[in-house]
Amino acid sequence: MRRTLTTLIAALLTGAALSGQVKVAVHENATGQPVIPKEIYGQFAEHLGRCIYDGIWVGKDSPVPNIDGYRKDLVEAIRDLKVPVLRWPGGCFADEYHWMDGIGPLKDRPKMINSNWGGTVEDNSFGTHEFLNFCEMLGIEPYISGNVGSGSVEELAKWVEYMTAEGGTMAEKRAANGREKPWKVKYIGIGNESWGCGGNMTPEFYSDQYKRYAIYCRNYDGNRLYKVASGASDYDYNWTKVLMRNVKSDISGLSLHYYTVDWNKKGSATEFNADDYYNVLGKAVEIDEVIKNHIAIMDLYDPRGRIDLLLDEWGTWFDVEPGTNPGHLYQQNTMRDAMVAAMSLNIFNKHTARLKMANIAQMVNVLQSMILTKGSEIVLTPTYHVFRMFNVHQDAVSVPVDVPDDGQVSPSGRIYPELSVSASKGEALHISLANPSVDKPKTVELEFDALKPKAVSGEILVGKGKGIEAVKSHNDYDGKVEVAPAPFKDFKTTGKTVKVTLPPASVVVLEVK
Ligand code: AHR
Repeated sequence: MRRTLTTLIAALLTGAALSGQVKVAVHENATGQPVIPKEIYGQFAEHLGRCIYDGIWVGKDSPVPNIDGYRKDLVEAIRDLKVPVLRWPGGCFADEYHWMDGIGPLKDRPKMINSNWGGTVEDNSFGTHEFLNFCEMLGIEPYISGNVGSGSVEELAKWVEYMTAEGGTMAEKRAANGREKPWKVKYIGIGNESWGCGGNMTPEFYSDQYKRYAIYCRNYDGNRLYKVASGASDYDYNWTKVLMRNVKSDISGLSLHYYTVDWNKKGSATEFNADDYYNVLGKAVEIDEVIKNHIAIMDLYDPRGRIDLLLDEWGTWFDVEPGTNPGHLYQQNTMRDAMVAAMSLNIFNKHTARLKMANIAQMVNVLQSMILTKGSEIVLTPTYHVFRMFNVHQDAVSVPVDVPDDGQVSPSGRIYPELSVSASKGEALHISLANPSVDKPKTVELEFDALKPKAVSGEILVGKGKGIEAVKSHNDYDGKVEVAPAPFKDFKTTGKTVKVTLPPASVVVLEVK
């Protein structure tokens, strides 16, 4: 019944869109638009499976080429991506992590069982110094996720002091461990998923905990902390409401987590049909509604917009690859993931008046990764390419676009758009477009307020082959490359318009001057 009704509504909405040709007005002259903070293109790295070990860190004595223990190939790939911010050490892991275990001589670091993620033994060889030095080397802003669930106020307070203070016992300890100068650390998360793996708390109880922990996270020697409260998951609007009502000060951001997952049947990352694909897109773009609803609550309690919303975990979540540890969440990444990334980023770009950060889960070897590694091999995933193509939006001014309301209904009854677009103005005007259709090209007529383009160029990401096979395309070890960006030329400029033809299941970024 639900499906019949939504199908009917969507049919009414579609109109001209079904003809395969649409007009999109681009308001490049609109004033007062928010900047798209670069942090929207943030990442997340957790001690989970092979994200840290093998993924980022192989150790100085590894046969895998490395720079002081960090994989050289990953460092180079991440540099091109322009990662603005990296959240660490979890996730659920963060609330079991005791930072003092991860400093000092390697031989003295205790080993712990990573009980959240497969019971793997964690030897703490990647700790505070290794993480902050990695960020410093790559110009990434670190985002520390603090332990509230099984830690103490004192432990977190001392961590902040150890990282950022110039003097005192913690600074002396840091210097003895090889780092004289404090690091700059801006983002500090007070717990993670405190409603679940982070302590099973009620929002009322957590609000009080937040205030206790936050007050003792001090600003030392010119370092200014941006404190983030552990936020809701998905549709838990009550959590946001209670937090916003109870925590009025000493807070800069409230987090939110949203995964594209069907908990009843996650499904394979690479083997799926068109129905599965559209269902995944439907779930992915529901984030639009979820963000709007959380923002509406925040607007009610904080009309001046002092507290930011940070989507500090998002991405696709499928079955692990056959033969891998079920607790390690290692999944492949196809053109379907690229489509989810593109459509999600286009959505985030439009909510940046309140949404100030998003961290895809995760950087390497876990869930919707940018990078996969095996021994000394590295794979750049389709999601990596979307993030690289879209990084032109970082810190650019958002440009409103009028896209026809052309919802299609997925077999599970969720609505996804026939066309996804966002735009921004930095050194040039950039427009990112995604045509999700498995089999239909889409012609888009971009019409500018006043701009008569003199030079247009573009890049396209598209799979190999036709139909669903193209969507299933992915890159793999042994040099298998089915998805890689290529120059895009299928457009025509006339006066104030650029007419673009998007092939089925494609992502395009245009530069217009
Ligand atoms: O990213 C994997 C896990 O998903 C994180 O550890 C947790 O915060 C979330 O539930």
